[in-house]
Amino acid sequence: MMKINTIYLKRVLLYGGCLLFPVFVMAQELGQSLGSLDVRPSLVNPRLSLPTQLTQVHVVSPGEYFSPPLVADIPDDKYGDMVRMGRNIFVNSAKYAKRYAGNGLNCSSCHLQEGRKPHSGPLWAAFGMYPMYRHKTRTVVTFEERIQDCFLYSMDGIAPTLDSPEMKALVTYAQWLSKGAPVGIKLPGRGFPIVNRSQDLDSKRGKIVYETRCEICHGEDGKGKKHLQGDGYMFPPLWGRNSYNKGAGMQRIKTLAQFIKGNMPLGASFSLSDQESLDVAMYIWLQDRPKNPKMSWVMDFFLPNMAH
Ligand code: HEC
Ligand code: HEC
Repeated sequence: MMKINTIYLKRVLLYGGCLLFPVFVMAQELGQSLGSLDVRPSLVNPRLSLPTQLTQVHVVSPGEYFSPPLVADIPDDKYGDMVRMGRNIFVNSAKYAKRYAGNGLNCSSCHLQEGRKPHSGPLWAAFGMYPMYRHKTRTVVTFEERIQDCFLYSMDGIAPTLDSPEMKALVTYAQWLSKGAPVGIKLPGRGFPIVNRSQDLDSKRGKIVYETRCEICHGEDGKGKKHLQGDGYMFPPLWGRNSYNKGAGMQRIKTLAQFIKGNMPLGASFSLSDQESLDVAMYIWLQDRPKNPKMSWVMDFFLPNMAH
């Protein structure tokens, strides 16, 4: 009797274990895929039969201003968690998007005030304009592809995949910031201001602008200044290995000059003339920085300052 019992028990354990193991693994994966910050798959079919004439459209009348929502108004639910995660990535990219960020910058180093400030590529003005046609690539690009570009070039990192939590969070943050903004309309403050050149650019004049207006924060060597405590930069590097790479939008003198005119020196936007902005942009353009990831080392060596 005893002998039969042990054999029986062993079989139960062996076969049962084999059967239960996959269930155990599946349960673990399921648990992982439904982490607190992930988006749950929708269980209901879209309601295609909704009558279209019930749709209400808000029209922003002339003279009315859009203002992005306040951080305190981020809802206290799963959607709000995603917005908060996006905001964290935006202002502290090295910590919250560690897998993808490659340098010392945050998204908010160039898209100021957490992506809110007009004339520094604010998210609320960008979100409703995508998908859009881009001359640079001669294709229609989506908002996500635009973010991938900033990771690859401006952050000198790796482009996050479209289904990564980081990408979902950033898109959710941008959508939240643009709540109430009209879609498909170029809002005032979108992108960067216009800069016109009146004379040839001169990096010697640019150097003087740099020394008198920028150096105090960004440093004599342009490498920025780190926080005394904690990680990251108080004043981000304008060149050197922790700055944007040569494929970035900022490596175009005109774009850089436009950004500088509308945002720098910090707290004194629009205080430089167009020419000063262009000259100092040229001076910065001449400095060394990480190579364009799409360009070979040989090309980078022989044509170090070629734009993309
Ligand atoms: C070094 C500065 C810099 C950093 C850092 C940076 N960007 Fe950008 N970003 C730019 C510039 C410059 C443009 C406009 C580029 C152009 O016109 O070619 C831009 C454009 C964009 C746009 C499109 C704006 C519009 O109006 O169409 C989005 C969205 C964007 N960036 C998101 C991000 C995100 C998200 C991050 C962080 C992962 C980031 N950027 C980091 C400089 C930067
Ligand atoms: C008072 C300090 C201060 C001064 C002066 C200043 N900046 Fe900045 N700059 C900053 C800060 C801080 C940021 C990042 C924005 C943020 O984190 O809010 C920044 C960001 C930038 C960026 C984008 C990020 C990067 O690292 O490439 C550029 C380009 C830039 N500054 C250029 C200039 C130029 C050119 C001047 C002089 C005309 C200048 N700055 C003067 C503080 C300053």
